[in-house]
Amino acid sequence: MKSIFIIGAGDRGSGYAAALRKWPERVRIVGVAEPREAYREAFVREYGIPADNVFACWRGAAERERFADAVLICTQDALHADPAVAFARKGYHILLEKPMATTADDCRRIVEAVEVSDVLFAVCHVLRYTPYTHRLKDLIARGRIGDPVSIQHLEPVGYAHQAHSFVRGNWRNEAESTFMLLAKSCHDLDWLSYVMGQPIRRVSSFGSLFHFRPENRPANAAQRCTDCALAGDCLYSAGKVYSEIFNHDIAPAVLRIVNPDTSEEALREALRTGPYGRCVYACDNDVVDHQVVNMEFGNGTSGVFTMTAFTEMHKMRQTRIFGTRGQIVGDGESLDVHDFLTDTTERIAGLADSAAWEGHGGADQNMIDAFVDALESGDQNILLSGPEETLMTHLAVFAAEQARREKQVVEID
Ligand SMILES: NC(=O)c1ccc[n+]([C@@H]2O[C@H](COP(=O)([O-])OP(=O)(O)OC[C@H]3O[C@@H](n4cnc5c(N)ncnc54)[C@H](O)[C@@H]3O)[C@@H](O)[C@H]2O)c1
Repeated sequence: MKSIFIIGAGDRGSGYAAALRKWPERVRIVGVAEPREAYREAFVREYGIPADNVFACWRGAAERERFADAVLICTQDALHADPAVAFARKGYHILLEKPMATTADDCRRIVEAVEVSDVLFAVCHVLRYTPYTHRLKDLIARGRIGDPVSIQHLEPVGYAHQAHSFVRGNWRNEAESTFMLLAKSCHDLDWLSYVMGQPIRRVSSFGSLFHFRPENRPANAAQRCTDCALAGDCLYSAGKVYSEIFNHDIAPAVLRIVNPDTSEEALREALRTGPYGRCVYACDNDVVDHQVVNMEFGNGTSGVFTMTAFTEMHKMRQTRIFGTRGQIVGDGESLDVHDFLTDTTERIAGLADSAAWEGHGGADQNMIDAFVDALESGDQNILLSGPEETLMTHLAVFAAEQARREKQVVEID
């Protein structure tokens, strides 16, 4: 039986804890660190954590002798590097939320600590673990489109998701968390490199905060949606955004972010007084709402990536891959494989469970399963998002952001 310590019992920490429940005979959660009392107590009750192993901060646990086999680090972006280094040095195996860290130096520091301590390590690049990605990689490996030469990839963030996470929420402000490309799209650059089977060597990038700015605030709009006479006509009114999200399977997880008590009355109060009820044109947000990255891969092939807020909600990432013998068009759930020679298209459907939005179409569970397998076998190769490759794709993200800011092409070291 392997034992797990969870750092950060927020959205991701509690999601992974629930996924670990699939293996009651193989793994158990023996500790938690979480400063927010309501979330910590709920977690302790849910998993029956012994009082000795309950901490308000990960640092308390890092001072103790190792008391678990592995740690899941699920704190916010800027709070990844120090616990990752501290627990690697203590000999814990590590599953670390993305992004690895918010600076390239901190990413390198983590990889060094993990390698020196020789612990198992994976970053939660869940997109690598989807049945859809496995099938796509397999099609390419079997030569179905010849050599892949060009790739186009869209991350359709969704207008209401942008408002929730990147205008009002946890990832709105770079100084508090990190820049948008790292927070949202480190997944995408990592996935593009994985699918093409090549490191990213050179990037350019453009993008800005175009829409969610004070100058776009309508005259007479109030500071908060609950007081706003224009709320009925506003696309981004909190009432509308949360009812839009509420009409979808993802609702419970999102509402729990707005407030741990998700009763209607408590949620109304949270919108009246908390960050998620603010006018989207009167927040302290500064991260971009659209960005493109052009990239050249190690073998001279190329890719183009678009992240945009301005899409309909609940769409999965969309990709086109053009090869020397055919092309593949994918939407996260199905793949259309077209063969140039026969001029025929095969549709491979049903590659994601669209009811499983909360867990990235089943990928969160697959990644947890792989981590449990790796803990039992001690085999790092089971983990698809290990230290060196993740470091490489994170360096591409830092380079792309540098390219956007400095308006130049940046080579990746
Ligand atoms: N892999 C993915 O697809 C994916 C998806 C969403 C978010 N994320 C990443 O997961 C991480 C967590 O995101 P989240 O949405 O769960 O955030 P969250 O804010 O819901 O949870 C983070 C938790 O860490 C706790 N925390 C803060 N300081 C702490 C400390 N010193 N010790 C212990 N706990 C502490 C917070 O109180 C909070 O409960 C972020 O880095 C985010 O970017 C990854």
